Amino acid sequence: MSEKIIIEGGYELEGEVRISGAKNATVALIPATVLASSVVTIYDVPDISDVEALSDILRSLNVEVNRQKDHLIIDPSKIKNIDLVQDNVTKLRASYYFMGALLGRFKKVKIKMPGGCFLGPRPIDLHLKGFKALGAEVKLDDDGIYEISANELLGTNIYLDFPSVGATINIMMAAIFANGRTVIENSAKEPEIVDLAIMLNKMGAKVRGAGTDEIIIDGVSSLGGCFHEIIPDRIEAGTYIVIAAACAKKMKITNIIPHHLEGLISKLEDANVAMELGDDSITIVGNKEIKAIKIKTQPYPGFATDLQSLLGAFLTQAKGVSMIEETIYPERFKYCEELNKMGANIKVKSPVCFIEGVSQLKGTEVSATDLRCGAALIIAGLLAKGTTTISNAYHIYRGYENIVEKLRNLNARIWEEK
Ligand code: EPZ
Repeated sequence: MSEKIIIEGGYELEGEVRISGAKNATVALIPATVLASSVVTIYDVPDISDVEALSDILRSLNVEVNRQKDHLIIDPSKIKNIDLVQDNVTKLRASYYFMGALLGRFKKVKIKMPGGCFLGPRPIDLHLKGFKALGAEVKLDDDGIYEISANELLGTNIYLDFPSVGATINIMMAAIFANGRTVIENSAKEPEIVDLAIMLNKMGAKVRGAGTDEIIIDGVSSLGGCFHEIIPDRIEAGTYIVIAAACAKKMKITNIIPHHLEGLISKLEDANVAMELGDDSITIVGNKEIKAIKIKTQPYPGFATDLQSLLGAFLTQAKGVSMIEETIYPERFKYCEELNKMGANIKVKSPVCFIEGVSQLKGTEVSATDLRCGAALIIAGLLAKGTTTISNAYHIYRGYENIVEKLRNLNARIWEEK
């Protein structure tokens, strides 16, 4: 996979782009298939590196995984609960969903976890609190290998100190076969959680309240297979909406769920962006004067932290001083240094950053520190005069299916360094 993306900036984009299946749903749905006793077919699976990595982990558990065009056919009927300590497990944060899924299925899981990353420490204390509440014992050895096991998993009430997406998903999966009722209180409400609950219920689970701050799981004895189509990726959709607002004459983004993008759409209206909403699409008409705005990231349905860096890049083109307050990951401002290298005028006083526009960005060498920083640098590169080279582009390929091809089809001058 090429390490660099190169962009010749200053060209107006136009045309139509279709959004792929949601990465943050997919990385939960794939591990959840270990709970089933027969074939699960998942449609609209994005072709991204996280999916490959998770499919390989499933294969190491003796689960058959075949990709046919945009769908994955997964057969867990001959699954073996081996220890997940190989490298590809530790490299991918979402592998922690195998904790809840294998604990739920086998009452035992041994897995090595990744460390923190650019977002700052990525604790899993709320996940472990849930597992213990269900009756599991958690051991952690010096090599970072967790052993979580229980003679019996008993339904109970679990209150989350913070509406953690990962903890909500992991506890939901661990409780699927528990005896009795589990109630997750102050649960996260992200659409990806709802999508997982829908698939689990198709398999025969009893999950109610997903999408609210209280999720009820009544234990069942086993789960069958099912067919499931992944919801569109609201963060990929938001990325192309911001790209359109920044660089397009006119762009139509299709296969979206507008309801999932209310936080972003409301803020872009405040910034004076012209948008026409359809049932499953949105059309952006660019080239209006962008107004400076204030943003505060919140758990869903608030403004998504994953879109924060994209707005940071976009707001370099707004007249005046914009402010972004990051309440989920206070460290999530590394992209600002890279944008300033391109001529942006951003001051960071974590957990807030101030962006003074309008800046004429100039192409240069920059580096992606993570998936969403990479996306922000693509926007900046499309806006900048001259050539921008983004290194560590592998971060971007983790979450954006065919992003270079999709942008070239929109008239962007962008290519991968061979
Ligand atoms: C999910 O991460 C997403 N990843 C992230 O998207 C997203 O930024 C995040 O939710 C918030 O919306 C996936 O869905 C794969 P959290 P997750 O648990 O589940 C603290 C992207 O770019 N916390 O809701 O890890 C944590 O430190 C990625 O697609 C604890 O303290 O997020 C953070 O401050 C980046 N203890 C906050 O909660 C815990 O046990 C949010 O974390 C768990 C979390």
